This record gives sequence, structure tokens and C-alpha cells, in this order.
Amino acid sequence: MTTAREERIGRDAPAALAGRFPRDFAWGAATAAYQVEGAHDVDGRTPSVWDTFSHTPGRTLNGETGDVACDHYHRLEADLDLMASLGLRAYRFSVSWPRIQPGGSGPANSAGLDFYDRLVDGLLARGIEPWLTLYHWDLPQPIEDRGGWTTPEVVDRFAEYATIVGRRLGDRVRHWITLNELRTYSQMGYGTGRHAPGRHGWGTALAAAHHGHLAHAAGSRALREVVPQARVGIAHDINYPVAGSDLSEDAAALVRYDGAMNRWFLDPSFGRGYPADLVDWYHGIGLLDGVDLDAVADMPPLDFLALNYYRRERVVAAPVEDDWGIGASVREAQGPRTAVGWEIDPDGLRATLVRLSREYAPPAIAISENGAAFPDVVAPDGTVDDADRRDYFAAHLAAAADAIEQGVPLVGYFAWSLLDNFEWALGYGTRFGIVHVDFDTQRRTVKASGAWYRDLIGAAP
Ligand code: FCB
Repeated sequence: MTTAREERIGRDAPAALAGRFPRDFAWGAATAAYQVEGAHDVDGRTPSVWDTFSHTPGRTLNGETGDVACDHYHRLEADLDLMASLGLRAYRFSVSWPRIQPGGSGPANSAGLDFYDRLVDGLLARGIEPWLTLYHWDLPQPIEDRGGWTTPEVVDRFAEYATIVGRRLGDRVRHWITLNELRTYSQMGYGTGRHAPGRHGWGTALAAAHHGHLAHAAGSRALREVVPQARVGIAHDINYPVAGSDLSEDAAALVRYDGAMNRWFLDPSFGRGYPADLVDWYHGIGLLDGVDLDAVADMPPLDFLALNYYRRERVVAAPVEDDWGIGASVREAQGPRTAVGWEIDPDGLRATLVRLSREYAPPAIAISENGAAFPDVVAPDGTVDDADRRDYFAAHLAAAADAIEQGVPLVGYFAWSLLDNFEWALGYGTRFGIVHVDFDTQRRTVKASGAWYRDLIGAAP
């Protein structure tokens, strides 16, 4: 028997859930270039920081790389047909900067642009709206060799790259996301070293974040100049941090943690500059010297905020020397969790959407990523009955619908991910796809979650 709650979250009744979303809602799935394309040295592409990093022994699980990934570059037409068979109305992908400017600067490589031209045309021919991300972590290696995100040079380079892509695709692409998860790539790429380019130090991470904000500003302006009708946003990963206990030191740690992980990125994006409490904290521990903090005050307005949401985080006080110098750390998940230990909290998505809407008042919000890794079991016939992933999507979409009912201007939802893919330092063993990929044969099989999502979209107004 179906309970009222189950019916509401659409586990068995996708139509009821779909009916809670507006008519022109962007029902989508997302990927990123380095995670799916493969063809790492084809048609003029040269290494990005992720090629270098993944080819460095010890950096990724089992030494796996994105050399082949889902071979999406060579399987474009079939993958487009797959998207159409799922009924997707929108597709979020990223452009590989080293395909477009192999050396990180200078004239465009037309063979690289041709691929995205075909992708965009193929989407439009199937009635799928392209949502384009300019930067999803694959910085051309030559830029990194000159300091990468820690130097001002990257700001001009990014604006130049945005102009090139805008000129070529701006007549057909309306939604543009400048950067994906500035927090993740600045902190993990330049702070903890767990992601490319593998650099360390909190001051380095803050410098990378600073130039990211400036690159977003310069890139948005450059884009709007060549694509006046563009709708421009930035994708931030905002999870749902809560205090790990009732202790006052944990409550204080939560404020710092939310400041360092969320407000440090949101406040500048909305033209508010850096949050003063965190500026004081960082100055107190000897960071931010020489950073022109006022430079981020002049931000172009966002047309939409793109939100990547995955999990709840229980924050507790920690020694300042630990992790990020902010005297806070995240405790292990207490409740249900995914294969990577992320604590599942659908209502945290509703709370996050409501918070973003009330505190920052973006004209629109799109959920640009949401999804879960689970240890998929492949049946002998190749099928994957991933009820846990389907339930994750159902519960998060119900929470998103609750947020809409509370006044959040939500315009789209992108399941992460269309395909199982190269999950960065975790390689291929961590699967997020609604479509299973056999990495030996490149065979694609729609999982139960993908079939459920197809039915949901099919029932949408
Ligand atoms: C996000 C990334 C995306 C993917 C998911 C699981 O942080 O943007 O590329 O790795 O996590």
C-alpha cells in the first residue's frame, strides 16, 4: 500500500510530484567535460590541470584518468538520442577550455568549437535546451604553469575565453554558467591539494577564490557584450550545515563554517563584498595580506543563481590548525548516507532554497546539480535497480516543490549525473549516473532511477 507521504514524494506516482512544478520548468541532467568526454588528445586539445593531476601517481584512486571517460566526444549522436529517450528538456554541460584554447590563450581552435556546435545543434534539434557551463575545473595547464587561479592573469584569460565561446554559441545558447563550484576548486585544488592542481595552503586557496570572483565578473561582462540576450549565472555548491550539538562553541563554529564555505562565495556574487566576520577572522590568523578585498565589490548582477546541493553537514568546533584554519570541522554523518558518506537530507534542500531566496533574492534559482552515489548492483541482464537513488531524487524533488510553494523562484532541476563518469579523485568506482556506463564496453543502460525520472518528466505540465 502506498502511504500518503510516498505518494506525495512521487515514489509511485510521478504525476502527482510533477504537477507541483511550473509549466516551463527546465527538467534536465548535468555532466562536465573532463568527467565524460574522453578524447583527451584529439582535435588539438592539450592537457588541463586534471590531465596532469590524474596522470601523477597517487593522486586519483587506482591512478584513473579522464583520458577515455565515457568517450562522449566520439559518441555524441548516440548520447543525444539517449537524452531524448529520457525526455530531457534541458541539458547542462561544460565546455573544455583546453579544447577551445589549447595553450590557454590566443586564437580559438575551431575543431574544438565544432564539437560544441554539434552538441548545441543536436540538443536543439531534439527540443532540449542547452545550459552551458564555461568552467568546470579543467584549466589549461599552461595557465597553471604561470600560477593558475592564484594570479590575476587568469581573470583576463577567462574573459577572453568567454568571448570566444559566446561569439560561436551565443546565437543558440541562452543560459550560461560562468564557474562551477568556485569553493570546491579553490579549496580542494589550492588548499587541501586533493583535487587538481594539487596545491596546498589556505592563503593559496583564498587567492584562488579571489581571482575566481574576479573572473566571474569579467567573464559575465565579456559574455553580455557579445551575447546581449544571455542569461548569466554562477553555480555555487551550498550544502546544509547545522550545528553538531547544542554546545555554544559548535554554534560559533557553524557560523564560521557557513561563512568560509557559503557566504565567502555567495556574498561577493551578490555584490556585497566579502563577509566582514570572516575577513576579521582570516586577518586574525595572518591571512589575506595583500589581497585587494574591495575588488570584489563591483559585481555584475546575476540573472540566476545555480545551486549544487547534495548533503547536510554537522559542524563542530575544532582546533584552528585543522583543515581550513576556521576552527570548525564536519562530523561523520549520523543519518542515512550515500556511498561517499554524504548525509542525505532532502528538507535541507528546501531550507537552503528558502534561505538563498530570502537572504539574497536572486531573480531565479536553478538546481544545477543534485544526486547521489550508491553501490549499484548490475543484474546479469545489465539492468540496475537503484531504488535508493530513485528515492533520493523523489525526496529532493518533493523538497524543491515545497520550496516553490514557499515562494522560491525555482526554474530548473538538473540531476547529477546523466552518466556514470570520472568522479575526480575517486575515479570510476563512484557512480552518480541515472544511466549506467560499462567502462569496458561503453555500453549505456538506463537505471531504474533514470526510467523513473523519464516518467516524471513525461508527466510534467
Ligand atoms: C560536484 C561537482 C561534480 C560532481 C559532483 C558529485 O561537486 O561539481 O562535478 O563531481 O560533485
